Amino acid sequence: MSKEISALQKARAAYTPKLPRALRGGSIAVELGEPSHPATDRDEIKRLFPNTYGQPVAKIVEGEGKLSSGTLKVGVVLSGGQAPGGHNVIAGLFDALKLANKDSKLFGFLKGPGGIIKGKYRELTADIIDAYRNTGGFDMIMSGRGKIERPEELAACEANFADMNLDGLVIIGGDDSNTNAAVLAEYLRARSSRTVVIGVPKTIDGDMKNEQIEASFGFDTAAKTYSELAGNICRDATSAVKYWHFIRLMGRAASHVTLECALQTHPNVTLVSEEIQAKGTTLGEIVDYITDVVCKRAAAHKNYGILVVPEGLPEFISDIKAMVDEMSVILAVERNYIEGLKDRSERVQYFSNALSDHSARVYGSLPGDIQEVLLVRDSHDNVPWSQVETERLLIDLVSDKIKLMEEHGETQAKFSPLAHFFGYEGRCAAPSNFDADYTYSLGHAAAQLVRAQLTGYTVNVQNLTRSSDEWVAGGTPVTMMLNMEMRKGKPTPVIKKALVDLDGAPFACFAANRDSWATNDEYVFPGPIQYFGPTEVCDAPTITLALEKSGGCGCST
Ligand code: FBP
Repeated sequence: MSKEISALQKARAAYTPKLPRALRGGSIAVELGEPSHPATDRDEIKRLFPNTYGQPVAKIVEGEGKLSSGTLKVGVVLSGGQAPGGHNVIAGLFDALKLANKDSKLFGFLKGPGGIIKGKYRELTADIIDAYRNTGGFDMIMSGRGKIERPEELAACEANFADMNLDGLVIIGGDDSNTNAAVLAEYLRARSSRTVVIGVPKTIDGDMKNEQIEASFGFDTAAKTYSELAGNICRDATSAVKYWHFIRLMGRAASHVTLECALQTHPNVTLVSEEIQAKGTTLGEIVDYITDVVCKRAAAHKNYGILVVPEGLPEFISDIKAMVDEMSVILAVERNYIEGLKDRSERVQYFSNALSDHSARVYGSLPGDIQEVLLVRDSHDNVPWSQVETERLLIDLVSDKIKLMEEHGETQAKFSPLAHFFGYEGRCAAPSNFDADYTYSLGHAAAQLVRAQLTGYTVNVQNLTRSSDEWVAGGTPVTMMLNMEMRKGKPTPVIKKALVDLDGAPFACFAANRDSWATNDEYVFPGPIQYFGPTEVCDAPTITLALEKSGGCGCST
């Protein structure tokens, strides 16, 4: 890391994140509730997790508890995509362990779960931690997308933990990594290992949330960063009055990031994948809708506009989804053979034969670069949607349609489109005050769950729209959040991804306003994240979280 730091970094290094009241004092207890159960697939999950199924929900309270005050050795790992606040989770964990016993030690496993398997780690000392307080990024120990699942990988982890005398491991990751935490916890418990495993809910996608987990960390900062950029583009559009901006936003399958940006900036067109799936909207109908808005605005002498689209959209268009599912099953069996094929045309030929007729036609109709990306899967069987240029596909299709309409004298729209993708720009931003406080609290709380020797839990902090005084921290048994889904062609226990709820307040607020946003210029300019200043500017949660908690429409229109 460079020795030179910016003026803002210097000022942020001095920021003390806020903690829930129960985590501030010296006497901390963990209260356990009733046994827990998943909403579905109980028998199957109980069969797969016999040693960790049914554990009670945990709540961290002020009071005398039986938490360990001995010297603890704890490991921490960052898993998956970067999310603002990861370093503060580690700082919170470190501070809480040291407060309980100054001789406790924290070890950072390097480059994600692969570092645990290979036994690659470094001790995290105060000077290392101090250099990363309130910074973005995962560069303190780096991240990786590896997975701990094969018997030899689980055994390697157990052996490394035994060598290190590790009391606990904290896995900072999304839904898949927290599922992985449950698998590892179950394995270690079955083998009477002393190492407990705790997960932390991380992802900018905002899709790891449920009754217990109000938000994944990083969503706040990333969505606000993209909203700043989208707002700037809205201002540019109304200044230049000649471009249509098609903006694709990161966020994997869920449209939370896109919906938050829409609520923050009021673009003319917002596509919400979950709605498109629910209505069975086809690609052609999406193109018709966009073209209609372009033409209506052109008729009002507005040959400019802004569209936002979630990166996961293609997966929610019914025929593309069916094709991707078929491909996943084929890839699970034939990956080696397919990867061995000479070039793209051979792979396209292979899929044209292996897919059903309809899916083969859909595959054949996509641009070559998209066909290639669809062959790739990460270790969790995800399609890398961040590499699929949906915004360009939509631009091409809308341009074609407008040309055709012009030829028939149906429009005089001047359509000059520009494509943007905002993704990697937001994942390592310096955490907002909300994320800095939230992640530091999650780290502190994770330390208390380790001290309580709980295993197979995801740490949570609730009441997030209130002042941090009223935040309540605890732990949710991961088995409580699991359900069975098809992965790599097999039924697999996974944490259910939270997609946009079409009956929820954030979507309702958007849906009530979108027609007006389409034709009028009702743009809002949220500007950059502020760290110092009035609390309504610096500490507000996302509109999504505020609406979810209040249940009402809070936007100004
Ligand atoms: P996680 O699910 O691991 O939090 O990753 C989030 C994400 O940023 C997605 O929004 C995006 O599709 C993906 O990572 C990009 O992956 P990569 O970093 O491997 O390019």
